[in-house]
Amino acid sequence: MAPFTDKFATPAEFQKAPQEYKDLFLKVMTIQSDSELGGPHLYVEKWILAAPTAEDQMMLAKTAAEEFDHHRKFVKIMADLNVDLNFQIRNGREKRMLEIFRMPLETWADMGVFGAFIDRVGGYHLSDFAECSYLPMAKIIPQILKEEAQHIAHGLRILDTLCQSDEGRAEVQQSVDRMYPRALDMFGVTGSKTSEKYLNWGIKRRSNENARNEYRAEMQKVITQFGLQEPDPLKGRHYL
Ligand SMILES: [Fe+2]
Ligand SMILES: [Fe+2]
Repeated sequence: MAPFTDKFATPAEFQKAPQEYKDLFLKVMTIQSDSELGGPHLYVEKWILAAPTAEDQMMLAKTAAEEFDHHRKFVKIMADLNVDLNFQIRNGREKRMLEIFRMPLETWADMGVFGAFIDRVGGYHLSDFAECSYLPMAKIIPQILKEEAQHIAHGLRILDTLCQSDEGRAEVQQSVDRMYPRALDMFGVTGSKTSEKYLNWGIKRRSNENARNEYRAEMQKVITQFGLQEPDPLKGRHYL
């Protein structure tokens, strides 16, 4: 199939799209909308009140509010397409669609790694939608990406503070060891036929493996910057 280069500008136009397009779009939006709740459901109760400084508390509260707002924006897009995702907000973390959001954030280092590494994966997924062939989706992405950049920056500040001491750095390394392979998994399997279809329909713009490779190159710089070691990217993972 030749790549699809047209756009769907409205819900009415979407409804006239081929079934394969509709199925793919609704599937990825369901995951995206669910994943926006992943962070807040992990740290609102556990870390906002327990954060080490008032500034950290403020940042986590702001980040959580923005994630709920991202979720709400995706729910609205889906509601306009007659799909009701309001049930997702009532699902606890054990029901999150992606594995990474089902794991608790036990330490403050986990919180920092979550911001610096996992929000960044979210940023990759979202930037893939910036030129999405469904225009109402593409339109909301720039503002969301601006907010995601702040979440990532806060994660990096947490890591920077912790990595000032050997003890703190060891704690960060443990969190990275646990979360990094799962972050790589979040891009989906290599050579996926579904991933090819997303590209062909102009819903996403990078294959799973290309996005993962770009992410890995970027994170290797962060890992080096903080004097950490990159965990074996293949250990226990499912994406190959
Ligand atoms: Fe978000
Ligand atoms: Fe975020």
